[in-house]
Amino acid sequence: MDTTALNQSPQDLEVNMKHASPDKPVPIAVARGDGIGPEIMDAVLFLLDQAEARIDARPIEIGEQVYHRGVTAGIEPSAWETVRETRVILKAPITTPRGKGYKSLNVTLRKSLGLFANVRPCPTFHPFIHTVHPGMDVVIIRENEEDTYGGIEHRQTTEVTQCLKLITAPGSEKIARYAFEFARRNGRRKVTCFVKDNIMKLTDGLFHEVFDRVADEYPDIESDAMIIDIATAKLAKQPDLFDVVVLPNLYGDIVSDVAAEISGSVGICGSANVGERYAMFEAVHGSAPDIAGKGIANPSGLLHGAILMLDHIGQPDVAERLHNAWLKTIEDGVLTADVAPRDASTEAVSTEAFARAVANRLGETPQQLTAARHDGDGSAPAITVSPTAKPSKQLVGVDVFLDWDAHERNPNVLGRELEALVGGALKLKMITNRGTKVYPDGQPETFCTDHWRCRFTVPADGVVQHAEVIALLAALEQAGFDFIKTEHLYTFDGERGYSLGQGE
Ligand code: NAI
Repeated sequence: MDTTALNQSPQDLEVNMKHASPDKPVPIAVARGDGIGPEIMDAVLFLLDQAEARIDARPIEIGEQVYHRGVTAGIEPSAWETVRETRVILKAPITTPRGKGYKSLNVTLRKSLGLFANVRPCPTFHPFIHTVHPGMDVVIIRENEEDTYGGIEHRQTTEVTQCLKLITAPGSEKIARYAFEFARRNGRRKVTCFVKDNIMKLTDGLFHEVFDRVADEYPDIESDAMIIDIATAKLAKQPDLFDVVVLPNLYGDIVSDVAAEISGSVGICGSANVGERYAMFEAVHGSAPDIAGKGIANPSGLLHGAILMLDHIGQPDVAERLHNAWLKTIEDGVLTADVAPRDASTEAVSTEAFARAVANRLGETPQQLTAARHDGDGSAPAITVSPTAKPSKQLVGVDVFLDWDAHERNPNVLGRELEALVGGALKLKMITNRGTKVYPDGQPETFCTDHWRCRFTVPADGVVQHAEVIALLAALEQAGFDFIKTEHLYTFDGERGYSLGQGE
């Protein structure tokens, strides 16, 4: 995949869409997707046309067909070119082929284009679409580029695989700032951060710490942080406790689907993927292969995504007309099968009939549902990241991971063999298995796999040289150990930059 063109931004790149001439159509890259994608995209393009959206839709081909041509990233160089020219994508869901050779195109697009914020409003349509939480009005803002979604995975031993979770200071700051800017622009009162920093003290701890620092700069917006497990339970039961929720990528992926589903259905929620230069708008749901080609898919999620796009490109007038026509259609009981009442009081309509019903209501406003107002600024806020002072970094040890499956996996045997290694300054401090200390003084009950983390430091916690690490690895090699990776132990301005083993 050649993404270099994306970084060679044209000179006018900073020109925001909202400053474009109001009459000049805004070029949009349009991907029709897989499964139900083409059906719902046709419906949405029809509605954009009927609503007189000032856009110039330029098709790009991505997804299944491209994968099957042998392009493992699912996107051709010509599509990247169109994306570079338009800088805005309206995308129907695509199918990621199963199998280890394929990368998720959704993740590739988000990461390659720097779409760091995934914004998912979860509105309700009570009493017209069933929800257990009629008053719910939550926006989920998910970090979109980091965490385990780098997809950096390795199988290291017969039994053990790993996935690298990367949380960065600038990435955390961008998403926290985006969440507060979003709250401020949209008249929201509170931003809540969900993390698991009671366990992941360094990664989630950093996300939390940066969130708190950014929150201090927005005294007009309430802020709090909660542990993700109880927070998600509370969100499912009492969503009125929440307003804007910001969270790392993986949690955001899961929690946003939960929030969308309890607000009514994942089938009716759209999402905006926003970066500094590019933006992509889509439905929250996937390509629904089980109903593809039947003409019964709900186009609402993608329509919602298109409405968010209209705000972003500076056409809130069109967004408002389309939004209100959509609400009026739902209010009039015109519903597709996925959200129609189960008691058969209303007959479900097709994708096409739903789109026609929305078109027929352009210019109308709902009577019971709250009419939509699109007078805010939907363009991407300029997000700046504060420079960080470089701390003093010192190497104080190394964790060497071994694939070791001898002596009935007795950690005491391994410990003694490692302590007997000669010829280096680094000495064994402890061994853990799956993070739990098993040597010295481990518990005999601890289940052990073939994957051992062996921590070496120099006496009196002194400073280590790279040459000493190399000497240690040479000694391990000499003694016949299969070392599979190393992680260096650093301090930053004297503060420990690594976690302790459970029980250390
Ligand atoms: P899915 O969201 O496609 O479907 C889940 C269930 O919801 C199915 O029963 C489906 O019929 C129903 N559904 C979804 N959207 C609907 C709509 N608009 N109208 C009526 N019913 C709807 O999730 P699934 O089955 O897990 O994934 C299918 C494929 O979609 C996979 O290949 C997955 O990788 C891909 N996917 C793509 C996404 C994207 O392009 N942004 C997001 C999520 C999944």
